[in-house]
Amino acid sequence: MRTKIIGTGSCLPQTVVTNDDLSKIMDTSDEWISSRTGIKERRLAKEETTATMSIEASRRAMENANVSAQEIDLIIVATVTSDHITPSTSCEIQAAIGADRAVAFDINAACSGFLFALSIADAYLKLGTFKTALILGAETLSRIMDWSDRSTCVLFGDGAGAAIVRADSAGLLAYDQGSAGARGMVLSCLNRRNNNPLVKNPTDIQYVHMDGQEVYKFAVTTVPVSIKKALDEAGVNIEDIDYFALHQANIRIIQAVAKRLKVPEDKFPISLDHCGNISAASVPILLDEMNRNGLLKPGMKIVLAGFGGGLTWGSAVIEW
Ligand code: UT7
Repeated sequence: MRTKIIGTGSCLPQTVVTNDDLSKIMDTSDEWISSRTGIKERRLAKEETTATMSIEASRRAMENANVSAQEIDLIIVATVTSDHITPSTSCEIQAAIGADRAVAFDINAACSGFLFALSIADAYLKLGTFKTALILGAETLSRIMDWSDRSTCVLFGDGAGAAIVRADSAGLLAYDQGSAGARGMVLSCLNRRNNNPLVKNPTDIQYVHMDGQEVYKFAVTTVPVSIKKALDEAGVNIEDIDYFALHQANIRIIQAVAKRLKVPEDKFPISLDHCGNISAASVPILLDEMNRNGLLKPGMKIVLAGFGGGLTWGSAVIEW
């Protein structure tokens, strides 16, 4: 038995914010952002929330997979920006779509979250506990950015991506995952206030803080190794992979990974130019765009890879 992606969906906020728009509110430029990252614009949520975008992405994935709410046994949302601590985004989706039978919970593995959600769903499906799962990566990162830190806030965007997975004869062939908590503080968000009356809170609330160069080094060294491990585990040659759908953090990271793997860059589809980095949502949104643009054909082999906060990383080899 294998875990197969049978449908995808995504949802981006309405509001487009270009690099030029950002240059009107901070000391930056389209030239700097485009040349350093490949990002041209991103969508930022105004009315939308992590839950509303997730619900819409879920409905689109269900329609794409031709799966009803009653068929869904499991809902997992990977996010670092759920609207509330509880109820979870997954429970809000469950209520909105009427998936009464489903077990629903959120996970936090930052930008690797969708890969981790896929592996959890795979474990449940392999055990035979569940048959059909709805998995998402969804973020409203604009809520947790330090908008006075131009080196970080220009990189990120908001959105949600969803996939329906089901037990099948083909699908997820292998995956590799890892975490390096000891290096976690190179990408942090410490903005939780403590409401205990015995504890004095820090006066400043901290939002996302990133040592960009350390994260960059981590990504370009870890991701190729992880992808190779997943390919070895799957028994698939790298030349047989049709597409590499990587977390969309920076075009230079993707180019460096392609170079280290000795794979042509045109096998790495891109959404960061119009989405920016949407953490856990990057990979499922990219996958949905590939699916809807007709890039994916049955039998194709695809590598998915996520990396980021934690630090965490994950790669998967799937047969479409
Ligand atoms: O999903 C999580 C994964 N995160 C990542 O993958 C991020 C990985 N890191 C990166 O993508 C890159 O390190 C960045 C894009 C974040 C930064 O690129 P960089 O080439 O490492 O630039 P830098 O931090 O060394 O900064 C170079 C210069 C500095 O000015 P000085 O000191 O050389 O005068 C910065 O102050 O660029 C300046 N700078 C900016 N200038 C215009 C930093 N941000 C900006 C900006 N606009 N937005």
